[in-house]
Amino acid sequence: MAITQHTRVRDVLAIADLTDIELHELLELSHQMKSQPRGWLDALAGETVACFFQKPSTRTRVSLHGAIARLGGAPLLIRPDELQLGRGEPISDTARVLSGYACAIAARVFKQTDLETMAEHSTVPVINALSDLHHPCQALADLLTINERFGTLTGVRLAYVGEGNNVVHSLLEAGALAGMHVAVASPGDLAPDPAIVAETATLARDNGGSILITEDPVEAAAGASVVYTDVWVSMGDETEAEAHMQKLRPYQVNDELMRVARPDAVFMHCLPAHRGEEVTAEVLDGEQSAVWQQAANRLPTEQALVYALVTGDWTGKEHAR
Ligand code: CP
Ligand code: NVA
Repeated sequence: MAITQHTRVRDVLAIADLTDIELHELLELSHQMKSQPRGWLDALAGETVACFFQKPSTRTRVSLHGAIARLGGAPLLIRPDELQLGRGEPISDTARVLSGYACAIAARVFKQTDLETMAEHSTVPVINALSDLHHPCQALADLLTINERFGTLTGVRLAYVGEGNNVVHSLLEAGALAGMHVAVASPGDLAPDPAIVAETATLARDNGGSILITEDPVEAAAGASVVYTDVWVSMGDETEAEAHMQKLRPYQVNDELMRVARPDAVFMHCLPAHRGEEVTAEVLDGEQSAVWQQAANRLPTEQALVYALVTGDWTGKEHAR
């Protein structure tokens, strides 16, 4: 078997599971895999990756499939109603059993704690494909895109305007590791998790970056190179939809807010987007929008992540064709 045997199984349940060196290695490997998509076709030959999705997904589901296929592996996409979980089999038993068949498990779940249980009982790497708290796969594609646009990550100013959710938690962690300046503007009671803010503020400072939390979108966007937003109502928060929409209305990214940022600023969004809510159609479909590049970058970043975690080779050298 081509896969290196490890003593320690690595999971990525959050960007904070990576070191700054590993983050840079993954981005470098993503860049290589984007340039040579089929250069690692033997890496996972004969292996299966279990991809379990409790919530809908367009980008993550399909890009993971493509990423695993480009490593020569077989992605197995599993919906909750196809497992015995729905009939009461515990997550811990499911993770143990799946580990016997698959070389990695990617999972999109409602609760981060379910991922933690999975990782605790799995003997193969577990990858967070989005939870209530984090979206690390998205942040990897975001950083690759920013690096492609500006030639660096260090010192780049990113303004996130919207709800303090899973996407911004991963952006805060990634930005802090990369020495970026990340400013987040949210209504007070929809601000990011204070524990994540505190940890990333220290880490950002150590890496020459900074974290700013404010309620003022203009303060966040002033002088930014990247203006980022996400939906006002995340999957699983539907009961709070009305309250969120009302509180977040002043946080729309529109031409007026984009003018506060640098003239060469880009607009980013993890997608799916709601034109006329968190972003205007003019901005999303306008010249400054980087969203299609960002979405396309999901594939090479996931290819690099799955490869590194399963093979233990973060440089890509061991299994390059
Ligand atoms: N951005 C993102 O994760 O999209 P999906 O929900 O379509 O996977
Ligand atoms: N915050 C959004 C991201 C979707 C990719 C959600 O969790 O629904």
